[in-house]
Amino acid sequence: MPPALSSPVVRRRDAAHRRATANQQHDSRIAWRDAYAAVRAETERRAAPLSAEDQVVQSMPDASPTKWHRAHTTWFFEQFLLVPHLPDYRVFDESFAYLFNSYYVAAGPRHARPRRGMLTRPACTEVAAYRAHVDAAVARLLARAEETKLAEVLRLLEIGLNHEQQHQELILTDILHAFAQNPFAPAYEAGWPAPAVAAPKGFAELPRGVHRIGFAGEGFCFDNEGPRHEVLLPPSRIARGLVTNAQWLEFMIDGGYSTPSLWLSDGWAMVEAEGLRAPPYWQERDGSWHTLTLGGLVPVAPQAAVCHVSYYEADAFARWAGKDLPTEAQWEVAAGENLIDDAFGIVWQWTRSAYLPYPGYRAAEGALGEYNGKFMINQMVLRGSSQATPAGHARASYRNFFPPSARWQFSGVRLVEYPD
Ligand SMILES: [Fe+2]
Repeated sequence: MPPALSSPVVRRRDAAHRRATANQQHDSRIAWRDAYAAVRAETERRAAPLSAEDQVVQSMPDASPTKWHRAHTTWFFEQFLLVPHLPDYRVFDESFAYLFNSYYVAAGPRHARPRRGMLTRPACTEVAAYRAHVDAAVARLLARAEETKLAEVLRLLEIGLNHEQQHQELILTDILHAFAQNPFAPAYEAGWPAPAVAAPKGFAELPRGVHRIGFAGEGFCFDNEGPRHEVLLPPSRIARGLVTNAQWLEFMIDGGYSTPSLWLSDGWAMVEAEGLRAPPYWQERDGSWHTLTLGGLVPVAPQAAVCHVSYYEADAFARWAGKDLPTEAQWEVAAGENLIDDAFGIVWQWTRSAYLPYPGYRAAEGALGEYNGKFMINQMVLRGSSQATPAGHARASYRNFFPPSARWQFSGVRLVEYPD
């Protein structure tokens, strides 16, 4: 509580403090306005090489059209930020909440996921107008939000930006899957680089004993990265490098895809049902293996990290190699202590950890509590980040997750070994 009476010196000091606080808030609003603009521009940059036809197609129920990603990320800001916090906000189109709500039951009914590719309307141009409408409203909100409400506005804005970055990666994974259905193997971006990897350097000793994992420190994290808690690591060693295509070819030549004893039962069922014999997007041309990348069809690069494999394949490979997949605790400790190369920016790495809540985790109340918590079943955790992950989105505590059969993400393999 301010003093009832204050000396001129104190009043001058108070005025200076208020000016400093106001300046800080002004700077913070500008910084967030710029951060928002940068993330939104990156989505459009990723969509730019794609025609309107490219942006409509949905090649399987798990993948979504680019146009849908662009609209859904926009709806997220409209639904969770603008409608509750910008008093004069006008919803762009009342039907969009139904079309572009993904899985938020508390936010109302929604279009069936496998039928997103049926939406030829709204057109891409209307989605662009929707994005511009929401962008202008977010700019107004950032300029006008009352100081007492600014912290909550910025909290929601930050979730929305991190959410949009997740969809930026999905735009690329989903369009690659769509292009893989085209017999002429189109390129998303000529010159898309092959994933470079450091030369394998053997295994690093993991420090045994009790460690703490989970997000700590300043900055953003998703709720599934906490609470920070203790884990116990047994004596073990973790591969410094990623499994390469050359190693994967050895696995294939050695009968990896035709030896049931290497596979989990569900994995072997998938091998048989789908006739698997190589990683997704691999095809034999003129007696040598090629792979479809975002740069088009290219020869498989032996020293590049194997990519797009499922958990089942990663698990079978590890068994064939006489090794294991790391737990997410092993991975996080190793990354935190700089024991591994290529942790980030090449391929996500499957762990043998089921995607479960950390001890003491509770999802938040309301629709945004549906973001992560309700998916903590029947999926496996991946760690690191990939070539397709936007800059600044990854961190050591980040928990990505997909079903063990997923074969269209930028997912690869790192091994661990235990003493005999
Ligand atoms: Fe989403």
